[in-house]
Amino acid sequence: MDPQSLRKGPTKPTLVLLCCVGTWLAICCPSFGAPTASMIKTIVELLKLESKELYEDYLKKDAVGVPTDESLQLPCFTLGFEASTNISIIQAYLETAKRLSDNRADTANVTKRLDDIRCSNPPKPSIYEPEDFYARKIFTLTVLKRFSDCMAELKVKDRIC
Ligand SMILES: *[C@@H]1O[C@H](CO)[C@@H](O)[C@H](O)[C@H]1NC(C)=O
Ligand SMILES: *[C@@H]1O[C@H](CO)[C@@H](O)[C@H](O)[C@H]1NC(C)=O
Repeated sequence: MDPQSLRKGPTKPTLVLLCCVGTWLAICCPSFGAPTASMIKTIVELLKLESKELYEDYLKKDAVGVPTDESLQLPCFTLGFEASTNISIIQAYLETAKRLSDNRADTANVTKRLDDIRCSNPPKPSIYEPEDFYARKIFTLTVLKRFSDCMAELKVKDRIC
C-alpha cells in the first residue's frame, strides 16, 4: 500500500465512526438516539416557528423598508456532530443582533434552544459590529432573516447517530 495514502488521515466514514465510538456517542448519541429523536424534532419545530416569528416581528416593529445586507451570510447546518461549529457561529450572530438592537430582537430563547441540538462547544467567533444605528438595523434584520431561512430548510432524520 502506498504509505502516502496512509498519512492522509481517516476518510469521512471512519471519522464518523470514531466520533460515535468516542465523544459523539458519549455526549450526543444519548440525546440523538431513538428514544429522544422526537425531542430533537420538537426543538427543531419550535426553532422553525420562533425564528420566523422573530424575523417577522422585527421587520414589522423596527425595520419596515429596511433592506437586508447581501454580503452578510450566516452559515447553515445539517444536524449532527459536525454542525456544532456552524451552530456556534449562528449563536454568536444572534447574541450580537440582540445586543445591537437593544434587545428589540430578543434572540435569547432561540440561542438557548440551539444549545440543545449542539454536540460540542466550540469557541464563538467575534462578529463585526456596525456602529451606525441604521446599519445595526440592517445587521439585525439580515441575521434574523438568514437564521429563519436556515431553520426553514432544516430537516430531521429519524436517526441522526
Ligand atoms: C457549515 O457552514 C458552511 C458555510 O455555510 C457550509 O458549507 C457547511 O456545509 C456547514 N457545515 C455543516 C456540517 O452543516
Ligand atoms: C422566552 O421564553 C420564556 C419562557 O418560556 C417566555 O416567557 C418568553 O416570552 C420567551 N420570549 C420570547 C421573546 O419569545
